[in-house]
Amino acid sequence: MSDIKQVPLLDLRRLTPDLELELEDAFRRVLKSGHFILGPEVEALESECAAYLQVKHAIGVSSGTDALLIALMALGIGAGDEVVCPSYTFFATAGTIARTGARPVFVDCDADSYNIEAAAIERAITSRTRALMPVHLFGQSAEMHDILALARARRIPVIEDAAQALGAEYRGKRAGSLGEIGCFSFFPSKNLGALGDAGLVTSNDDALADKLRVLRVHGGKPKYHHSIVGGNFRIDALQAALLRPKLRRLDGWTAARQHNAALYTQLFEAAGLGGKLGLPVVRQTRHIFNQYVIRVRGEGRRDHLQAELKRRGIGTEVYYPVPMHQQKCFAESAGQQALPVSELAARETLALPIFPELTEAELRHVAAAVVEVLRAQ
Ligand SMILES: Cc1ncc(COP(=O)(O)O)c(C=O)c1O
Repeated sequence: MSDIKQVPLLDLRRLTPDLELELEDAFRRVLKSGHFILGPEVEALESECAAYLQVKHAIGVSSGTDALLIALMALGIGAGDEVVCPSYTFFATAGTIARTGARPVFVDCDADSYNIEAAAIERAITSRTRALMPVHLFGQSAEMHDILALARARRIPVIEDAAQALGAEYRGKRAGSLGEIGCFSFFPSKNLGALGDAGLVTSNDDALADKLRVLRVHGGKPKYHHSIVGGNFRIDALQAALLRPKLRRLDGWTAARQHNAALYTQLFEAAGLGGKLGLPVVRQTRHIFNQYVIRVRGEGRRDHLQAELKRRGIGTEVYYPVPMHQQKCFAESAGQQALPVSELAARETLALPIFPELTEAELRHVAAAVVEVLRAQ
């Protein structure tokens, strides 16, 4: 019997002493510099991220949500336009489309990877489609070859929502480097998390990158002269400075997440739970496991498992309980649309603790609890 009392879904306080020191140094450096908005720390983070993500331009912004919004604005998307996106995703994907005045057009996801695929996207394209917005969900890239081929044949730009996928790869290329614009989030729960809100947009297109930079500062170029309307989408110098030592550790953390995922999968497969339990499927060359999401089949069983784990002090989360096409605010755009794979995923999926600092004893404790509860069901 293990004597572990609690395992959180995520524990952001488990910093190594060396990282803690570097973060304190970064804080002091910014404090002493007196430079708090954009500036040298942001430029340094941008060039380090561009190198890491294998892109020409990386532009720091205020959040992952603002990364999506500014990407849509840079492509001139607005009222009367349609943007195709998944229904089974975080709200910001669809919310930002709606905020531009465009209509999010929801498509169903694949039952194994939960990512959207070209065939479903193709059925959703109309003469009003102005962009495709695939999401690399839970840290695994969508099947981009087919999506890009479809988009290029129709000259429709692709905005990658790579908020959960910094460092993920598709056929050896980094997620977020494949479409016209890539969007990333540094929300604290992401693999590379800030100590607050921050985000990043990427592009290999010089003109688009220039427009994104101008939109970030209210569309002013030169300052106080506006030929386009932008907003305040700036990243704080402090967040940039705090992210830099973390970026240097990201590959190590990713390896730890991948190790944790492999161990869970091994333990669950050995338990022989058959069809009751679905495990994450690794389809692409580099899954960075922002989340390890299991599937508990059978009416009410996922909720029962979650409640039982909570009773034992184990943190889990349902990503996402209500797909976008069933959200009240999208009732008009979605109508009576049925997207059965997304609806089932919303009822059956559960994210388990996967963070890099999770100990092997904790992981085995979580796996044993899941197996015990499912066996008894
Ligand atoms: C798929 C997806 N898109 C967009 C976002 C928005 O990012 P942020 O929370 O940094 O605004 C997130 C993360 O929260 C996300 O998971």
